[in-house]
Amino acid sequence: MKTPQMQSIKSKDSIVYFQEETYIQLNQYLLKANHSDVFILVDTNTHDNCLARFMGNLEIDIPIEVIEIEAGEINKNIETCSGVWNALSELGADRKSLLINLGGGVVTDLGGFVACTFKRGISYINVPTSLLAQVDASVGGKTGVDLGNLKNMVGVISESEMVLVDTSYLETLPANELRSGFAEMLKHGLITDANYWQRLNKIKELTTTDLADLIHESVVIKNKIVTVDPTEQNIRKYLNFGHTLGHAIESHFLTHPKKTTLLHGEAIAVGMIVESFIANKLSGLTLPELNEVSQSLLTIYPKVIIEKEDYQPIIDLLIFDKKNVGGKVLFVLLKQIGEAVYNCEVPEELLIASLNYYNNL
Ligand code: GLY
Repeated sequence: MKTPQMQSIKSKDSIVYFQEETYIQLNQYLLKANHSDVFILVDTNTHDNCLARFMGNLEIDIPIEVIEIEAGEINKNIETCSGVWNALSELGADRKSLLINLGGGVVTDLGGFVACTFKRGISYINVPTSLLAQVDASVGGKTGVDLGNLKNMVGVISESEMVLVDTSYLETLPANELRSGFAEMLKHGLITDANYWQRLNKIKELTTTDLADLIHESVVIKNKIVTVDPTEQNIRKYLNFGHTLGHAIESHFLTHPKKTTLLHGEAIAVGMIVESFIANKLSGLTLPELNEVSQSLLTIYPKVIIEKEDYQPIIDLLIFDKKNVGGKVLFVLLKQIGEAVYNCEVPEELLIASLNYYNNL
């Protein structure tokens, strides 16, 4: 019998299935849905590590074509989309075709965008294979690509037919990728649930077995938010906690010739520390809570070297943040661990002070 906490999770237009139920539901869907053909989008990593496992679970008798893109955030752009649109066109995809995105956040975000725009929209299914994609990217219908170094600047919100979370794919991930996704789970605790945050902090080592139930809990948290506010008019903004400065730091490191690219979660961990510092000054987060957040995140994530000369380029990037309105940079801040507030303006001196605080930790 299924344990109650691994029940499927329904949103407005989609449904997330877990573990053994994933392939049962997928095969039933494919039998009923009557798609003219099925395309599977992979990247070079999931082609080698996940595709055979996925294909082994399919029980359908319709044509399947595999389309492969290069792995990595640097390829999450419109040129890669053009390649996939062309491949779909050359392989004869029509409006009743289905695209299955098998991969991490780059594949699910880019593949979702390709599906939503090809012939003005074909159906798609997300099969997230990274922790980041299982708890965040593949759920809630945000699709898109980067514009230069600006993260997720071009895209649409449109949910997939279904999301299939099979945690056995995580066994193929390196430890730093697991940690990267874990940052989004910690964020879910910080913005909505202090008890969940405490339980995540008790985990000594990230293993697929220990994570399965917690992944489900994170999807429940994210799904509750996106079901109430699918298009980010209000409470979906909470999910951007740590992402305002975090995205700017990630973007700066992505294109700076002397910097090592950061994984998304590594940048967001820095973002959550600096934005907690700001919250301590502006929105009521206490000093012990700030210390708790900083110590927890610094135990898990490597300290990032942010030089003084990086400050202004990072601050300049904030102007491109998608939450901004009327030229104002708006932050999500914590009132306390487990509760957030959105649309907060932050003076520039506090941004600089927050980066200094991080550097002095
Ligand atoms: N990743 C943030 C959101 O889905 O809104």
